Amino acid sequence: MTKVLIIYASDYGSTQKMAEAVAAGVETVENAKAQILQAEDVKQEDLLASNAVIVGTPTHMGSPDWRIKQFIDQVCGPLWMKDALVGKVAAVFGTASGFGSSGGGSELTLLTLLSNFAELGMILIPLPKNTPGFAKAGLQWGPCARTGDENLTPIGVSDEKLEAARHHGANVARAAMALKDTSIFRA
Ligand SMILES: Cc1cc2nc3c(=O)[nH]c(=O)nc-3n(C[C@H](O)[C@H](O)[C@H](O)COP(=O)(O)O)c2cc1C
Repeated sequence: MTKVLIIYASDYGSTQKMAEAVAAGVETVENAKAQILQAEDVKQEDLLASNAVIVGTPTHMGSPDWRIKQFIDQVCGPLWMKDALVGKVAAVFGTASGFGSSGGGSELTLLTLLSNFAELGMILIPLPKNTPGFAKAGLQWGPCARTGDENLTPIGVSDEKLEAARHHGANVARAAMALKDTSIFRA
């Protein structure tokens, strides 16, 4: 069984909806199992027991939610000291309400998280632009749904914006399956 852990923070439910779509995508892959946890509930053991981690965040002031940063610093940090996550697969997703097709600062937000996972020696999975749903809610860094309209009125995440998230989950599950018994990085 290939285990994919989906970690998120959400105040108003949009990023949670994306997390559930990512998990549904993972579960379309045979022999892949998804587990969803809120960032503040994740323990080191959860990460160690997983083959892949997919982290989702709302964009807050052009950067990740503070609970995600707390998870990175307090849960992942000690594992960085031991190189315990090296070679596991990592990917990201998000939501943002602001300007542009996916939200102001969302690229920077997702890149910040990918940078964290590169620090941890993880194998990063992007979102190819030929992914179904990419045009509605995709960035090359991962699926990202815009949750506000032109006037920044909250509109949530429509089903069409979840398609890329579902595919991302399936992509990451397949990547984790292909890589889990290999040892790419050798000390
Ligand atoms: C404190 C705060 C800061 C935010 N900053 C940004 C921002 O910089 N850019 C943006 O596009 N949206 C910003 N937003 C909007 C959220 O990213 C957006 O509403 C998101 O979809 C909320 O996700 P949630 O429903 O999972 O909580 C901000 C929201 C909050 C509460």
